[in-house]
Amino acid sequence: MVSELSELSRIESGEVSIKKEPIDIGGLVTRVVERLKPQADRSRLSLAVDIPSGIPKVLADKERVEQVLVNLLHNAIKFSHSGGRISCVAKIEGDDILVSVVDTGIGIPVDDLPRIFERFYKADKARAGGGTGLGLAIAKHIVEAHGGKIWAESSEGKGSKFTFTLPVATSP
Ligand SMILES: Nc1ncnc2c1ncn2[C@@H]1O[C@H](COP(=O)(O)OP(=O)(O)O)[C@@H](O)[C@H]1O
Ligand SMILES: [Mg+2]
Repeated sequence: MVSELSELSRIESGEVSIKKEPIDIGGLVTRVVERLKPQADRSRLSLAVDIPSGIPKVLADKERVEQVLVNLLHNAIKFSHSGGRISCVAKIEGDDILVSVVDTGIGIPVDDLPRIFERFYKADKARAGGGTGLGLAIAKHIVEAHGGKIWAESSEGKGSKFTFTLPVATSP
């Protein structure tokens, strides 16, 4: 709790610098997924990566993008039932790469959807569970510091899809 809160304030105050370099998003996602696989296995969740091999590099801070992915994947694992599926996909759209984390979990009530990126906000079903409600606020700050966007689509009881954008490394 304390560490996520101080992390958020460090990012908000601009104390955390974003060191952008061209990075291979497919490789990065694959490494993060490998790292979280044991956790997914324990919850009986499948975890897949589907990223085209020739996808262009993105201009981003490797550690920060990892942090966004870990936050999204932790949520996907936490808010899924045994037997569920989680996948990470990416595609090109203009000068952006879109990265999505898709799950077949509990979903998010439509009334909560506009607020989940706010600090401390948790949807009804998550209120009793662990977590600080800061993970998505941190992810949003990081993505926006890269000039990107992050959003969620969800259907209650069916699953959620979180997508963020990062600039292609060659774009101006
Ligand atoms: N993949 C997901 N499936 C369902 N609900 C989610 C998912 N990711 C986030 N949420 C909702 O958004 C809220 C905020 O997420 P987050 O900021 O990561 O906080 P925390 O994980 O600490 O609860 C969660 O409490 C939950 O209600
Ligand atoms: Mg979280």
